[in-house]
Order: sequence, then C-alpha cells, then structure tokens
Amino acid sequence: MKVALFGASGATGKLLTQRCVAAGFDVTALLRAPETFPQRDHIHSIRGSAFDPAAVRQTIEGADVVLSALGANSLKKEDVLERAVPQIIAAMQQTSTHPKPVRRIIVLGSAGALPTSLDKQPAWRRWIVQNIVYNTFLKWPVASQISQWNNLSRSGLDWTMVMPPMLTNTPAHGHYRIDGDALPPNGSRISREDVADFMMQQIDSPQWIRKGVYITW
Ligand SMILES: NC(=O)c1ccc[n+]([C@@H]2O[C@H](COP(=O)([O-])OP(=O)(O)OC[C@H]3O[C@@H](n4cnc5c(N)ncnc54)[C@H](OP(=O)(O)O)[C@@H]3O)[C@@H](O)[C@H]2O)c1
Repeated sequence: MKVALFGASGATGKLLTQRCVAAGFDVTALLRAPETFPQRDHIHSIRGSAFDPAAVRQTIEGADVVLSALGANSLKKEDVLERAVPQIIAAMQQTSTHPKPVRRIIVLGSAGALPTSLDKQPAWRRWIVQNIVYNTFLKWPVASQISQWNNLSRSGLDWTMVMPPMLTNTPAHGHYRIDGDALPPNGSRISREDVADFMMQQIDSPQWIRKGVYITW
C-alpha cells in the first residue's frame, strides 16, 4: 500500500506515520522540515509546503490513498486547510486520466464543521459549545474545517472526513462512539490514538466514503 501523508510531523500525523510503518506501507510525507522528522525505512520525505502545487503533486503521485492530519499551529487565522486542501484535491483530480488515478482521501476534520454537528447535544451544551467555543476561541479552526468540508464534498473524490471533538494525547480506549449524523450526546473528547486507529481502518473500508463521520468517547 502506498500512502501519501500530509501533516506527518503533527501530533496525529506522527501516530498515522507509526501505524503506516507498522502495517508495512510505503509512505510519502510532505514536510516543511524533513530534517526534524525521524528517518525510517519505507518513509520517503519530500521537502515542501502543502500550499505548493508541485510539491503536492509529487507527494500524491502513485498513491493508493491520501491521509491528511494538516492543521494550523495556532488558533489564529492561518488558512492552512483553506489553502492546502484545494491543492491536494486538484492534484488528485489531475490523476483522473492516469492508469491508476488517486481517488481515496481520508482527512482529520473536526466536529464543528457542519451546522448540524451539535444536533444530538442537550440544549444547554449546544448553546455553550456554539456560542462560547465555536463562535469565539475556535472561530478560525472551525472556519478552516467548514472550508475543508465544502471543498471535499464538491470534489467528486472518494473522501472521508473524520470529525472528532477535542483531541487528547492520552492512550487509546480502543472503543468509541461513531455517528454519521451528529456528534453523539455529550461527546467532548477523544484521544489522537483512537482517531488515528479509526482513520487507518478507513483505508480498507467503503463505509464512510463521501461522508463525514463523528467520533468521540
Ligand atoms: N486540537 C484539537 O483538540 C482538535 C480537535 C478536533 C479537530 N482538530 C483538528 O485536527 C487538526 C490538527 O491535528 P493535530 O493537533 O494532530 O495536528 P498539529 O500537531 O497541529 O499538526 C499540524 C500539521 O500540519 C502541518 N502543516 C501545517 N501547515 C502546513 C503546510 N503549509 N505544509 C505542510 N504541512 C503543514 C504541520 O507541519 P509543521 O510540523 O511543519 O508545522 C503539522 O505536521 C486540525 O485540522 C484541527 O482543526 C483538532
């Protein structure tokens, strides 16, 4: 299996990298600073930014699947997903006439990406999350995730957007709730380990193709 990986140096990306290596996959990772990334067999690093169309094309070339755990380094307006996701989609679409088109992409999203995200929450919690969290200090990350959703859903690709609430760096539970319609009731956090496991499972599963899927403890 050939995997193109975006955001490999990030907190969830490192976990995806470990899982790809353990599975014996060949990984091509686009990295802004490959010298800070551990060199390992089966990992081919490309130096560059996900905003650079040529570097993105090089990264996805020949891939069976694209994984992305891209994100901003702060809560400020950085437009990482706004700029990178269209480049990744365009590079994948450009392979449509190739003998082996690159069609499958699994991305790390977030629970705030859709207006219906909070439909299964109790009213008090919905009000607090929407007004105190999504509309204020997570305003820009949420805007980025809305953009990622809009771009993927219009792409015609075989995309899956995995949408967790707050991510933790604690161990995996190995079990969690998933829902295609809205964040499960009172879902408030999940570990990156569990999210990475679920993203890896999507490589071989058609269940959530062209869909978003909420995941929470
Ligand atoms: N934190 C939460 O509680 C939470 C909850 C739900 C969803 N999310 C979503 O999860 C994602 C972040 O996950 P995370 O915290 O695991 O990641 P992270 O540690 O913030 O890592 C982000 C990754 O994106 C890379 N990146 C950013 N801009 C890039 C560019 N122009 N070119 C190439 N690479 C670039 C970074 O590379 P460098 O190493 O070069 O910086 C890094 O590898 C975000 O999309 C966020 O909205 C977060």
